[in-house]
Amino acid sequence: MNEALKIDVVTLFPQMLDGFLGESMMKRAAEAGLVQFRTVNPRDFTTDKHNTTDDRPFGGGPGMVMKPEPLFAAIESIQTPESHVILLTPGGKTFQQADARRLADQHSHLIFVCGHYEGVDERVRETLIDEEISIGDYVLTNGVLAASVVIDAVVRLRPGVLGGGEMATEDESFSSGLLEYPQYTRPPEFRGMKVPEILFSGNHAKIEEWRRRKSLERTAERRPDLLGRRSEEEE
Ligand code: ADE
Repeated sequence: MNEALKIDVVTLFPQMLDGFLGESMMKRAAEAGLVQFRTVNPRDFTTDKHNTTDDRPFGGGPGMVMKPEPLFAAIESIQTPESHVILLTPGGKTFQQADARRLADQHSHLIFVCGHYEGVDERVRETLIDEEISIGDYVLTNGVLAASVVIDAVVRLRPGVLGGGEMATEDESFSSGLLEYPQYTRPPEFRGMKVPEILFSGNHAKIEEWRRRKSLERTAERRPDLLGRRSEEEE
């Protein structure tokens, strides 16, 4: 059996993860021993009476910055030579399906460090962080939601997590560089809306051709940038 992927989330708000980790796919993956989740709270590593985790930025400016000492202590308490430490920040590289694939395939221990306030002290980033990830060009109040997005995309790619024999991940949007074709299930007619005839034809080659055309049309309409990226890759 494959070794379980260890995932640690360093956050001031571990309860924000309870719902996500305690339901559905993440819960089943953990119960099946395919992944092991832990949360680590930097507040538990503070040494002052007020459990201070943030402070005002040197040089002035708005907001607060996460102090280095509790973050260093929290990360160092779980870090091993195998760990890959990821900071979630809007300043990171934008997360793509290929990153999910790389993280799922190449690592046995992922540590997600969730920023809060205006960010983390630069010495944390310089010393402890292997990679910085953004989930998109918008600003969240807290890295926990971003970490959840990345964790979900990674865990579902680990062997055994999706099950169902045939790989549901192979066909879908982004692995192929195209958006997914339209899907239908029963009933064949609903409120006057009919499922395309071709899907009942039993002609697999024709069905494949139809799906590919729909994928291309949809991608051209909604995400022409993906078509550009594909032709660059093919060159
Ligand atoms: N923290 C705040 N906004 C974020 C974003 N867009 N991606 C990752 N982490 C974040």
